[in-house]
Amino acid sequence: RAVLLKDYAPPAYLIDTVSLEVELDPAATRVHSKLKMRTNPASGGGPLVLDGEKLTLHEVRLNGETLSPNAYQVDGRHLTIPDLPAGEFTLETVTTCGPEANTALTGLYLSSGIYCTQCEAQGFRRITYYLDRPDAMAVFTTRIVADEKVAPVLLSNGNLVKEGKLASGKHFAEWHDPFPKPAYLFALVAGRLGHVEDKFVTKSGRKVTLRIFVEPGNEDRCAYALEALKRSMRWDEEAFGREYDLDIFMIVAVSSFNMGAMENKGLNVFNDKYILARPDTATDTDYASIEAIIAHEYFHNWTGNRVTCRDWFQLCLKEGLTVFRDQEFTSDMRSRAVKRIADVRLLRSHQFPEDQGPLAHPVRPDSYIEINNFYTATVYEKGAELCRMIHTLVGPKRFRKGMDLYFERHDGEAATVEDFLQALSDGAKIDLTQFKRWYSQSGTPEVLVSGRYDSARETYTLKMTQVCAATPGQPVKEPYHIPIAVGLVGPDGKDMALQLDGEEKPHAKTRVLNLTERTQTFRFRNVAEKPVPSLLRGFTAPVTLSSNLKERDYVFLMANDSDPFNRWEAAQRYASGLLIANVEAIRTGGKRRRGTAFAEMIRKVLADKKLDPDFAAQMILLPSEQAIAQMIGKDVDVDAIHEARETLRIAIAADVRDDLKRIYERMKVDGPYSPDAEDAGRRALRNACLGYLAFLPDGSGVEMAAAHFDGADNMTDQIAALGVLANIDVQERTRALETFYEQWKGDHLVMDKWLSIQATSSLPRALDDVKSLLHHPAFTIRNPNKVRALITSFATANQVRFHAADGAGYALVAEKVLELDALNPQVAARLLGAFKSWRQFDRKRRSLMSRQLERIAGAEGISRDVYEIASKTLA
Ligand code: ARG
Ligand code: ZN
Repeated sequence: RAVLLKDYAPPAYLIDTVSLEVELDPAATRVHSKLKMRTNPASGGGPLVLDGEKLTLHEVRLNGETLSPNAYQVDGRHLTIPDLPAGEFTLETVTTCGPEANTALTGLYLSSGIYCTQCEAQGFRRITYYLDRPDAMAVFTTRIVADEKVAPVLLSNGNLVKEGKLASGKHFAEWHDPFPKPAYLFALVAGRLGHVEDKFVTKSGRKVTLRIFVEPGNEDRCAYALEALKRSMRWDEEAFGREYDLDIFMIVAVSSFNMGAMENKGLNVFNDKYILARPDTATDTDYASIEAIIAHEYFHNWTGNRVTCRDWFQLCLKEGLTVFRDQEFTSDMRSRAVKRIADVRLLRSHQFPEDQGPLAHPVRPDSYIEINNFYTATVYEKGAELCRMIHTLVGPKRFRKGMDLYFERHDGEAATVEDFLQALSDGAKIDLTQFKRWYSQSGTPEVLVSGRYDSARETYTLKMTQVCAATPGQPVKEPYHIPIAVGLVGPDGKDMALQLDGEEKPHAKTRVLNLTERTQTFRFRNVAEKPVPSLLRGFTAPVTLSSNLKERDYVFLMANDSDPFNRWEAAQRYASGLLIANVEAIRTGGKRRRGTAFAEMIRKVLADKKLDPDFAAQMILLPSEQAIAQMIGKDVDVDAIHEARETLRIAIAADVRDDLKRIYERMKVDGPYSPDAEDAGRRALRNACLGYLAFLPDGSGVEMAAAHFDGADNMTDQIAALGVLANIDVQERTRALETFYEQWKGDHLVMDKWLSIQATSSLPRALDDVKSLLHHPAFTIRNPNKVRALITSFATANQVRFHAADGAGYALVAEKVLELDALNPQVAARLLGAFKSWRQFDRKRRSLMSRQLERIAGAEGISRDVYEIASKTLA
C-alpha cells in the first residue's frame, strides 16, 4: 500500500478552472463544484479518477447533463468516470460533507464555531471530488453561502469579487484567486471573527491590505504578529527580491489546528498559539515563535506557492527551503549566534534521533504509506541544512543568483528537487552532482577528525574520515560532499591565518574545507605554534563529529573560540563528557567528578559585560537529559542521567552562587515589557541564573523563585518561576500552581502552559498528575494543543518519568494514542513518535516499549497514519 516516487506519472487530465459554491451547514455542507477540464496532451486520456473521501455524492453532470449512476463508479476513496469526450469538457459534482463531525481537522471542520479548512496534504478531497495532487494547478473561484448570524465573515483565497444578501438570513461572498494553484493551497474560513488591519506598500508600489482575523475579544493580541508580518514582507524583498502579489493578505487564527500554520494562498490559517500575544499571556519564546512562523508562512508565497511541488516526495523543496529562509530572517532580526544554537539543538534533539532510528528516511523520501507522516524533522530541519550547506559552499552572492534563476525558471510551475539543484548549480556556478546524495541517502554521517601538529615542519594536519551507518533499506552509503568550516586557535587564544598546502599566502581565519572522499587530509603550513583546531564552526554540516580533542582543548575553546557557535559547543562537549562519566560512576559506584571548569567558565561568562546576555544564557545551561541519553546511545539508564545532571547542577550553583546572584540582580529589566531580543536576552540570562539558584541545597532559592513568581509583571518571568517551582516538592509549588490556575483559567493558551509545566515536572508525582489532569476541565483530547501540552510534553520532555521502570508511562501514552486515533489520526501518529528511540534504552524498558508498540500495531481498525509509524518503529 506504499506510494513510490518512481511511479510518478503526470495526470491524465488537466483542470483549468474550478468554481466552487459552498453552502455552509454544520451537519451537511453542500459543495457544488464545476471543473473546466481537458485531456492532458502530455499523457492523456483514459478513465478519469477523482479523489474524494468522506463525501456524500448527490449528482454528477458532464457538459451540463446529469450522468446516470451507471456512468461512473464511487467507492470510499474515488469517483471514477470511464468515458469522457476528447478535448475540453465541464464536470460538475454536488456533494455534502459534515464539518461538525470532522474531528480529524483535515478538510472542512469547525473550530470553536468557526468553519475552517486544512487541505495540505490531502484534505481537499474531503471537501469535493478532485485531482488532489500538487501538480494539478487551477484557477479557483469560490462562492461561500452561509447564515449571516452564524458566519458574518466569509473568506477564501485571492480577491473578493462580489458579496451580497440572500433570502432567509443568508448571505454570500465570492472570491477569485488569479494564480493557478494546487488544491492543497485552497482555504475557506467563515464565522464570527474580529480583525485588525494594516497596510503594506511593496517595493514596486503595490498597496496591500493586511488583515488578521481572530475570535472577537482577541484583537488586542494581534499587534506583534502584524508587525512581524510587515518585517517579513520587507525582508523577503531585500534578501531575496521577492514581492507580494495580491492586493490583500489575510491570516486567521483558530484554536483547533493539527500543526503550526498553513500557507494557503493569500489566506494563511494559523494555530492561534502562533498569533495571539500580550505581555501578560505570552513568553519571549512565544513572541519569537510567532515572528518565525509568520515569516515561514509568508515566505511560502514564493517557495511553495508560486513555485510549488510536483508531488509529495518533493516536500523538502518547499519546506526545507522555507525553513532555511525563515532561519535567515530570524538571524537578521535577532542574534545570529543564538538562533544557530537553537536550530542545532532542535536538529540534534529531533532530527538526529529520527535519522538514527527505525523511522529514518531521506530528505526526499522515495516511498510513503501516509504522506502526513512525512512532515518530519528530516524533511524540514535537515532539508533546511541542505540549503544552508549550498549557501555555505557558494557564499551569499552566488546563492542569490541561483535562487533568482530558480524563481525565473519555475515560477508558476510544480517543480522537483532536480529543478532546484539545476537552477542553483547553473545560477551559482557549482557542481552539485555529489552533493545531491544528501537528498537520497538517509542517516547522519559521522566525521572523524584527527589533528596533528608537526613542530619541526611547522605544519598542522587534519585527517578526516566520513562514515554513515546503514539505515532501513539503505545498507551502503556513498560518500557525501561535506563542507567543514575550521579555524586554528593559537595559544594566545587568537585565530591563526590559514595557509593550506599549495597556497602562496594565508587566507581567511575560518576556512571551509570540502570533504568529498571517504578519507582526506588537509595540511596547513607556517603554523608557528601548536594550535587547537576549532572544527565544524557554525555547524556547517548536519553530521556528528568526533575528534582527538581532549577535555583540556574544550576548556580552552569554551574560553577562547571566536566562533560563538563553537564556543558554546565546546562548553556543551565538556559538560556532556563530565555527565557521561558521572552516569558511569553512578552505575558502577565509582567516584563522581565535580567539573570545576564549567563553574569557572560560568564565572568568566557572567563577568564579561560585553557578552550578549542571550548568548551568555546559552553558555551556562547544561545539556538536557535527552541530549545525554542520545550521546550514550545504548542501554540508557534514565535515572542515572537524571541524578548525574541534578547533582552537577546543584554543585555548580553552590560554586558560583554569588556570581549568579549578582547577575540575577543586574539583569532585572526596568520599564514596561518589550518582547525585543535585547530585553528577552536579559530575561533569559536572569531566569537561567534563577534556574540554578532555586536548587541550592540550603533552600534559599525557593523563596527567591516564589518572590520571582509573585513579582512577575509578564508571562516570561511568571512561567520561569512556575517552571522552577514545579520541580521542587515544597508548599510554594502548590500555592504557585493554584494561584496561576485561578489567574488564568479563562485563557486556553495560558492553560496549555499550566498543563505542560506539570507534565514535565521531574518530581515522581508527574505521572499521577498527568492522569488526573486528563480529567481536568482545562483538558480535552479533541484539541491538538491540549494533547501536545499535556501528553506529548510528558512523553517527549520528561525523560525520567515517561521512562518510569514499571512501564506505567508507556502504557498511559499508548492508551492515549489509541483513543486519539479514532478521533484524529494525524495527531495520534505524531504522539506515537515518542516511542521512536525505544532501542536505545535498557533491556527492561526496551521490552516494555516494544510491547506497547505491538499492542498498537495489532489493534483493530487503526488508521494508516498510526499503522505506518507503529509497524516501521518495530521493524
Ligand atoms: N505547510 C505547512 C507549513 O509548513 C504545514 C502543513 C503540515 N501538514 C500536514 N499534513 N502535516 O507551514
Ligand atoms: Zn512550511
